[in-house]
Amino acid sequence: MPRLAVLGHPVAHSRSPAMQNAALAALGMGEEWSYEAIDVAPEEFEARVRAMPAEGFAGANVTVPHKTAAFALADATSEGAARIGAANTLVFAEGQIQAHNTDAGGLIAALRSSPKGVHALVLGAGGAARAAVWALRTEGAIVDIWNRTSARAEAVHLEMSGIELEVQGAVVAEIDQSAYGLIVNTTAVGLHGEDPFAHLPLRRDGFGEQILVDMVYSDGPSTLSQAAAAAGAEVVDGLEVLVQQGALSLRIWTDREPPLDVMRAAARG
Ligand code: ATR
Repeated sequence: MPRLAVLGHPVAHSRSPAMQNAALAALGMGEEWSYEAIDVAPEEFEARVRAMPAEGFAGANVTVPHKTAAFALADATSEGAARIGAANTLVFAEGQIQAHNTDAGGLIAALRSSPKGVHALVLGAGGAARAAVWALRTEGAIVDIWNRTSARAEAVHLEMSGIELEVQGAVVAEIDQSAYGLIVNTTAVGLHGEDPFAHLPLRRDGFGEQILVDMVYSDGPSTLSQAAAAAGAEVVDGLEVLVQQGALSLRIWTDREPPLDVMRAAARG
């Protein structure tokens, strides 16, 4: 009876259990496998994770605020997790804890076209931004970074640079919104109803033929998404990124092809 879980704090509102259990059921694995939500405080995180293999867990997703801790305690890490310095997916196998980061691949999968050569703007400098910058630069995009606190943007830019990434892009303070083929909002702005146009360097009437990814999601389209869609931009919402990262995690644990439509429907509830 392999168990799976998402560890977070808080975690009650996570859509991952509904999404992953629906996927397991659709794959005919619902009798055997199960996926639950576990609320764990930061000070208990490491001990909780280390106890999981003996409790029958095959793996876990890790969400806010544990992604850095998850990476730090792993015995082995994927290249992406190592570069990003954070993990959202753990695998318990052969007495080891392996750490992966499917937030990066999830973002790329959520884009309907390759970002190669695209001039992209990432807003934010937290963990989600690090995953986005690494993923996009690895795929060959030119990635500028803006953050309210520019020193944090500088840090992300430097850490996500390197000869092997053939990095192009810069930290920007003022932006020409129409110059970007892709804009990714990884900031928390909009999560609690803030007006994104008051906090981010974007104009409501500044969108055009480009792609907007807004990681902020709730039950309806976000304010940013609505403005972008109204101007003819292609919008990718945070739920699609959630579905794609979940699908990549499920593939890592089960080696099965994830049923994306089932997962989308369950995530949207
Ligand atoms: P995560 O790891 O989830 O990506 P985080 O580290 O908490 O998140 O970062 C949240 C991001 O949202 C940061 O880029 C933060 O900007 P600062 O680095 O300046 O704090 C950004 N953010 C949060 N509230 C914001 C606001 N009102 N205006 C602009 N940016 C905001």
